[in-house]
Amino acid sequence: MPTDLDDVSEASVLTLIWHITKRCNLLCKYCSTNSSIKADYGPSHAEAKRIVDMINRSEVAYVSLIGGEPLIREDIIDIIMQMKDGIAISIDTNGILLQEKLKREVYNKIDHVNISVDGPSSIHNSMRGGYAKVIENMKWAVKNGIRVGSTITISEYNIDYLEQTVRELASIGVQTIGFNRIRGLGRNLKDMYSLGDDQGTLEKVKENAKLAKSLGVNKTIINGWYDYEEEDAPSDLEDAKLSCYCGMYRASLRWDGSLLPCNFLVYDNIYEKVIKAYRVPKVSEFNDIDEVLETDLFTDFRKATTETLPEGCDGCVALKFCSRGCRGESFAAGLGLDGPNVHCNRSLQKVNAIA
Ligand SMILES: C[S@@+](CC[C@H](N)C(=O)[O-])C[C@H]1O[C@@H](n2cnc3c(N)ncnc32)[C@H](O)[C@@H]1O
Ligand code: SF4
Ligand code: SF4
Repeated sequence: MPTDLDDVSEASVLTLIWHITKRCNLLCKYCSTNSSIKADYGPSHAEAKRIVDMINRSEVAYVSLIGGEPLIREDIIDIIMQMKDGIAISIDTNGILLQEKLKREVYNKIDHVNISVDGPSSIHNSMRGGYAKVIENMKWAVKNGIRVGSTITISEYNIDYLEQTVRELASIGVQTIGFNRIRGLGRNLKDMYSLGDDQGTLEKVKENAKLAKSLGVNKTIINGWYDYEEEDAPSDLEDAKLSCYCGMYRASLRWDGSLLPCNFLVYDNIYEKVIKAYRVPKVSEFNDIDEVLETDLFTDFRKATTETLPEGCDGCVALKFCSRGCRGESFAAGLGLDGPNVHCNRSLQKVNAIA
C-alpha cells in the first residue's frame, strides 16, 4: 500500500475502462449510460488511434472496452488489433453483433467477452431485446474458444427468474457470472426498475452464486451488496482486495474524452456533479496517460481509496477484506469522498447513530 500520496511515482494507470462509444443498437429500459442509436459515437478513428498509441506506450495491462455498445463502432476490430501484445482486452457487450463483428484474427487478442443477459426470453426481451440472437452468439463464442462471461443486472423484474437464468448460462458454458445490482442511473434515474426487497434479493443472489459454482461456472461476482461477517473472509486473504484503488491504478475514459478516476463518474447525472467540483482532465491534453494522476481529481480519489477510512467502517469485522464501497457513489450522494458506503447498512447505521 502506498504511503506518500503526494509522490505519484508509485501510481500508474494499469487498468483502463474505455467507454469507447455512448451509441448503442439497443434501448434497454434501465440503461445507466442512457445509450441509444443517436447517442455520441465517441472519438473519431484518428483520435481513437492516438489513444491506442498512448496506451501502447504506457504501463496499461488491461483494457476493458465498454460503452454504450463497443461493437457498434466500425473501427473496433482495427482498434483491438492495434493494441500491443500482452495487454489483456475484454469487451462488455449486449452480444447482438458478436458473430458479425468478431473476426477470427481477434479471438486470440481478446482475453474475454462479457455478455449481458437478464433472464429467460420474455424477461430479457422486455428489458433489453434480442434474446435469441444473444444466446446464439454466446454459444458461437464458446464453441470458438472465446472465454465468455455474463452479467445479470438484478431487479425485482428478474429476481424470480434468476435460477432459470443461471442454469441456462451454465449449460452454455459461461465461465464467469456477475450479479449486478440495478442502480438509479441514466434511463433508470427515477429508480423505476428497482431492487425491491434488498436483503431478500441478496439472499437469492447468494444462493444462485452457489448454484452457478456447483454447475461448473468458475467465478461469480456479487457487485453492489455489502453484508459481510468475519467468516466471509476469503481463504486467500493475502490476495484479498482492500480497496478499489481508483485514482491509483485505474482510470475510466469517457466517450467525450474525459479521464475519470472512478467508473461511477461516467454516468451523465454523476458527471454533472464532478464538473461542478473539479476541472475534469481530457485525454487530448496528455501524451503520457500517467500524467493524469497528478490532477486534483485523481489525487483526491487516490487519497480516498488508499489512505483514509470511510466514515462508519472503523472497527468493522469485514475491514480486512471489504472494498469499503464505491467512493464515487458516496461523493455523488453528497456524503463526500470519505463518506459512508451507501450500500452498507452497517456503515450507514453507525454514521447515523453518531450524527
Ligand atoms: C451500460 S452496459 C454497456 C455494455 C453493453 N452495452 C451491455 O449492455 O452489456 C454495461 C452493463 O451495465 C448494466 N447496466 C445498465 N444499466 C444499469 C443500471 N441502471 N444499473 C446497473 N447496471 C446497469 C448493463 O446491463 C450491462 O451489464
Ligand atoms: S445497457 Fe448496454 S445494451 Fe442496453 S442500452 Fe445500455 S449500452 Fe445499450
Ligand atoms: S462497514 Fe465498511 S468495511 Fe464494514 S462491511 Fe460496511 S463498507 Fe465494508
